Amino acid sequence: MDINEIGATAFVISCMRAMEKDQEHKLFDDPYAALFVNEAIEEKVQELIRVFPPSVELVRYRVRVMSEIVERGIADGMKQIVSLGAGFDMRSHIYRTDGVRFCDVDQPAVLQFKNKVLEAGGVTPSPGIECNYLEVDLPRELKKAGFDLEAPILFIWEGNTMYLPLTLIHDFLDRMRAQIPQMTIAFDYYSEKIVNRTTGDERITEITDMFENNFGVKWVTGFDDLSVFQEKHGLEAVESESLMEFGERHAPQSVAQIKEFMDAAAELLKLYSYCVLKAS
Ligand SMILES: C[S@@+](CC[C@H](N)C(=O)[O-])C[C@H]1O[C@@H](n2cnc3c(N)ncnc32)[C@H](O)[C@@H]1O
Repeated sequence: MDINEIGATAFVISCMRAMEKDQEHKLFDDPYAALFVNEAIEEKVQELIRVFPPSVELVRYRVRVMSEIVERGIADGMKQIVSLGAGFDMRSHIYRTDGVRFCDVDQPAVLQFKNKVLEAGGVTPSPGIECNYLEVDLPRELKKAGFDLEAPILFIWEGNTMYLPLTLIHDFLDRMRAQIPQMTIAFDYYSEKIVNRTTGDERITEITDMFENNFGVKWVTGFDDLSVFQEKHGLEAVESESLMEFGERHAPQSVAQIKEFMDAAAELLKLYSYCVLKAS
């Protein structure tokens, strides 16, 4: 798939992040998200919400999860944080901390647009590496950008893995792992059952089709067993949970609404998870 099509989804996510300020029970704060929203995107998101209201909840939980991982990382002394396939993620500003180096990685068109919007809004552009991270030697690029590859680096890989072919994911992790001995990587992922349409629940398949058609994207990779990362890359799953479990703890009101709207939506959230893998 053309990564430009995936890039377009970054706008939708930003729009959903911008809507958080109107939520009664806020899960996060992103004062920059609104800069990336325009009427056309707002309309697209409103249409999606009309068809499938829980789509916003999915994104809300995932944003909160990843933000918590960054917060905790910094509190525990992490000094290097990379947003892989960053889109309009603004955590580099939101969590700006003395002595902590941030970097966004995304395709040139996305980062150039992002910086133009930020400059126009009077915001300092985020440091970034413009590339297709599957095609370049990313560790080398990080080193050039001032990162210490021997020291711990936290990678936030949000909203990416489902779009990438499995072999490319493993090749990429191989390259990273070989050059960054203390890497930690957090990402969200679907169950293979969602991607392969084998949940046995026709309504989940319909939701999956609706998402893909609406965004013009395809979900190609899912995971059911994280032990593959330990076996192939020496990356241990130190944390993992479905977004349903996460939501039940952090946003019980919203989970109740999802269940009320549609059982299948709640089931989908059980098959959408996040994890943190750490070099062991
Ligand atoms: C769904 S968006 C998610 C953006 C952001 N992480 C978030 O959650 O808001 C996916 C982003 O990853 C970027 N991306 C996907 N594959 C990429 C690749 N191989 N190289 C560089 N960027 C990539 C896309 O350009 C897009 O901006």
